[in-house]
Amino acid sequence: MPVTALRGQIVSLRDNPFERAPADCLDWHEDGLVIMEGGRITAAGPYEAVKGALPAGVTPAHHPDKILMPGLIDTHVHYPQIQMIGAYGEQLLEWLNTYTFPTELEFADQAHAARVARVFLRELLRAGTTTAMVYCTVHPQSVEAFFAESERLGTRMIAGKVLMDRNAPAALLDTAQRGHDESAALIARWHGRGRQLYAVTPRFAPTSTEAQLEAAGALLCDHPGVYMQTHLCENRAEIDWVRDLFPERASYLDTYDHAGLVGPRAVFGHAIHMHEGDFCTCHDRGAAIAFCPTSNLFLGSGLFKLAEASDPRRPVRVGLGTDVGAGTSLSQLQTLNEAYKVAALGGTRLDALRAFWLATLGGARALYLEDRLGRLAPGYEADLIVVDPRATPFMAFRAEHCRSIEEILFLLMTMGDDRAIAETWVAGRKVHDRDAPPDPIPFA
Ligand code: GUN
Ligand code: ZN
Repeated sequence: MPVTALRGQIVSLRDNPFERAPADCLDWHEDGLVIMEGGRITAAGPYEAVKGALPAGVTPAHHPDKILMPGLIDTHVHYPQIQMIGAYGEQLLEWLNTYTFPTELEFADQAHAARVARVFLRELLRAGTTTAMVYCTVHPQSVEAFFAESERLGTRMIAGKVLMDRNAPAALLDTAQRGHDESAALIARWHGRGRQLYAVTPRFAPTSTEAQLEAAGALLCDHPGVYMQTHLCENRAEIDWVRDLFPERASYLDTYDHAGLVGPRAVFGHAIHMHEGDFCTCHDRGAAIAFCPTSNLFLGSGLFKLAEASDPRRPVRVGLGTDVGAGTSLSQLQTLNEAYKVAALGGTRLDALRAFWLATLGGARALYLEDRLGRLAPGYEADLIVVDPRATPFMAFRAEHCRSIEEILFLLMTMGDDRAIAETWVAGRKVHDRDAPPDPIPFA
């Protein structure tokens, strides 16, 4: 395995700035060095201190004006929906019926799924995202296509087959038993194969019967270590519908809890209209929330209460999600841009260190992968990005007036997007180079 090395400014969170003084959470080296071997980081730190670990003959690629950062982590996204991003004019339930379900029907065709998976993963890497928690469709072949492409690229991805046995077009429905069996077969084939991880994926309570939610719970019991992803408390009409469909449950979250779906490695998308008791349950069980600001704004769903969710007295694990195709960008930088505004509308502030925590180590923590993803430190998997704060003339001009690394990071999260991602590295291999197209690994 060849040794590779990158030299540049290093920004890496090592602790949670929602719970400690932000300055105590940041590893920042103005002139830093990262050494990688065998898919892992073997050394990272100030150039002068680390350069002695460079093997003879290895010269680091030098990026004096750029920032080396961990690869970004997207905790909630639907790959089949990239072909309908930006669909006009509806809120959640109408949006699903009008745009989403017709689109997902196309994934019965594995060749179509393979093509969309290829485009999706290329766009993720161009946006600097190296790990995502991904919804496929109800078709097992949509999962197969996705993991096959992720395996080819060497990315660490979490994904699963959507479970739906009611309230959707007939061709998109499975049954409790079939959904269970197809999921079990996909777990056996993909969970823990290389870097791929499986998520049991009931779409949301309205499209699953009680029997299907229970079958999902049985899958989690039978396969310790697999993930669970679903949607929760996104939209008022959705919440009213869940109350009608599950009159015997105490709350929307309880429909999942009753089936054994609320625990470590469960990730709930949105969780906008939550009560204190819901946050307490998530905290107590170690379940996580994916904050999806561009989607929550685009569908008019509401403002996520980030400060409340992160209350250090009972913090809930929170990651950042793009939720494309309801979300409007695969860029975590653009997602942070909107996250800041959502916090502002809620009367709070999202500073740059907290923001980048959410997009890196905080996301990894939401996924229980914080021992291997989200930091530039020895032993961590070598997924990282080379970020260019002067990606456009306007950004370069604005950067002249930045006086601290926090201001540069804040510039990146307000003005930055995929243009600011100069390179993306996965498992120690360069998979995207903005300035040297075509991409280092062929995508077509
Ligand atoms: N709730 C159930 N399905 C979906 C989906 O595909 N996107 C969003 N944003 N919410 C959902
Ligand atoms: Zn979603």
